[in-house]
Formats: sequence, C-alpha cells, structure tokens
Amino acid sequence: MSTLSTPETAAQNATEALDARYGTPWNAPLPAWNTTLDTLLAHRSVRNYAKKPLPEGTLETLIAAAQSASTSSNLQTWSVVAVEDPERKARLSKLAADQSQVREAPLFLVWLADLNRLEAAAQRTSASAEGLHYMETLLVGVIDAALAAQNAVVALESLGLSSVYIGAIRNQPEQVAAELGLPPRVMPVFGLCVGYADESRPAQVKPRLPQSVVLHREQYDAPTQTEGIAQYDEVMGAFQTAQGLSAAGWTSRSLARWRSRESLHGRDRLRDALQALGFELR
Ligand SMILES: Cc1cc2nc3c(=O)[nH]c(=O)nc-3n(C[C@H](O)[C@H](O)[C@H](O)COP(=O)(O)O)c2cc1C
Repeated sequence: MSTLSTPETAAQNATEALDARYGTPWNAPLPAWNTTLDTLLAHRSVRNYAKKPLPEGTLETLIAAAQSASTSSNLQTWSVVAVEDPERKARLSKLAADQSQVREAPLFLVWLADLNRLEAAAQRTSASAEGLHYMETLLVGVIDAALAAQNAVVALESLGLSSVYIGAIRNQPEQVAAELGLPPRVMPVFGLCVGYADESRPAQVKPRLPQSVVLHREQYDAPTQTEGIAQYDEVMGAFQTAQGLSAAGWTSRSLARWRSRESLHGRDRLRDALQALGFELR
C-alpha cells in the first residue's frame, strides 16, 4: 500500500487512483488525499483466493470494524455467521449458484438482517413489538447489515485481504437459513468471501459511471445522464476486452440482469421466501 511521504506522492496516488476508478483521465481539481482514500479507491472484488489462512484475530478485528458502523437508532439489527468449515462452505456454494469462490475463500461471512434478537427481548419483557412486522423494520435490518459489512470490507482491504460479496445467497434463502440454523425473522442479506487474493490471477479496479451520471446538484437531473452513460459503455467495453470478455459495455450487461423473471435466479420469489422465514412485510 502507498504511503504519503510527500504532497507530490499524494497527488500522484490520487491521480492514478481516480483515473483507474473512472477509466478516463481525472479532469477536475485534485481533491484532498490520504491513505484511507488510497484503500477505498483501490477496491476490487476478488474471486480467486490463495490457499493461505487468515492471521489469528482477523475475524474479530473485522467484526469490530463492522460494529463501528452507524446503525439505525443503535438497534443493531444485524448479525453475521462466520463459516470456515469446508463442507458447510461447499453446501453454501451450491445454494449460491455454485460459485467456486465460496468454497475457495478461507472465510465466508453471511450477513444477516436480524429482527429476532429484539423480538426475543420483547417476549422476555412482555413488551409489544408490533413494529417488527413492517417492511420498514426489515429495511432497517438490511441497511444495518450492509453498512456493517462494508465497514468490514474496508477494514480487510486495509489489512491486505480481499473479498467479494455474494448476493446469490438470496437465491434460496430458506435453505441457507436451515444450513445456518437461523431463527425466525432473520434474513440472509448477502455473503462475503474473505481471503488473500491469488496473485497469479489478479483482479483489476473496475471503472464506475462518470460522476455526471450519479451526482446531482440541488435537484435530480435525468436528461444529462445519457451522454455519460454512452461514455461509460465505451469505457466498460474496453475494460471487458482487457478482461477477455465480450465488449458488451455496461447498459446491455446491466439490463440483462432485469430482462426477465428468470434472470433473477430464484430471487423473484424473495417475498414468499421472506414470508416463510417469518417476515410479514406489512
Ligand atoms: C450486494 C452485492 C452482491 C454481489 N453478489 C455477487 C455474487 O453473487 N457473485 C459475484 O461474483 N459478485 C457479486 N458481487 C460483486 C459485484 O459484481 C461487484 O462489486 C461489481 O461488479 C463491481 O466490481 P468491483 O467490486 O470489483 O468494483 C456483489 C456485489 C454486491 C454489492
């Protein structure tokens, strides 16, 4: 990881990181910079892992970072299951579109929206918990879980580790819940593979949409997005070519994910699955 020995080094780090993040030369004034930004801007998902165990204490450090995230009203409506057993990882991999990285990574974290803990507290104290059954409350748990997980991702990347989220853990939520012994009203939100990257198969920083597309000043501006998206399709086409993939660009690749019910890979029945897990979703 780079260090900030001089302002010139910082400026060079910033330029390189921003160019890579957008796949185009950064043409705005250079922002303030530091090593935290180095870590954030260098993020890439890693799907190939070295056969190397994590140092002792890593899991606990990551969870401390995760618990340091903000949490709605301090409710802390999330939990995480850490899976290291190869056989359990193999079964979870099968449930998550058979993704090999779930088996390969030494640690697989399943992040949970957990409404059960407070519900149990309500039962112990004979308190009413009517609010538990509303969509809003599940959303709070999902947001809490996502913020916590992303803190863990930043922490692990700062330690030289790598990860990839696994949304496919929602393909078959009831089976995942059974595998992990989840109580009612606990939803698997996503998985996270954690390990050391296999340096023989390095991952690259994937460019993002130009800021002109995602950043709106004062009011949302839909019309100006078209040009930036067209530019980004070209940037992503070049990135895909460099990755040995067909140069489909961003728009068509992304729309393929929404093309049909089948393209949701089982998640089209998420409402039914959540109801089976005890969420009323009022
Ligand atoms: C909630 C979530 C779920 C994801 N699920 C998967 C997945 O199941 N499999 C996978 O290979 N990558 C998955 N990803 C990784 C994304 O594909 C990746 O973040 C995106 O392409 C951007 O690439 P980058 O992370 O390298 O910048 C997921 C990412 C997020 C945030």
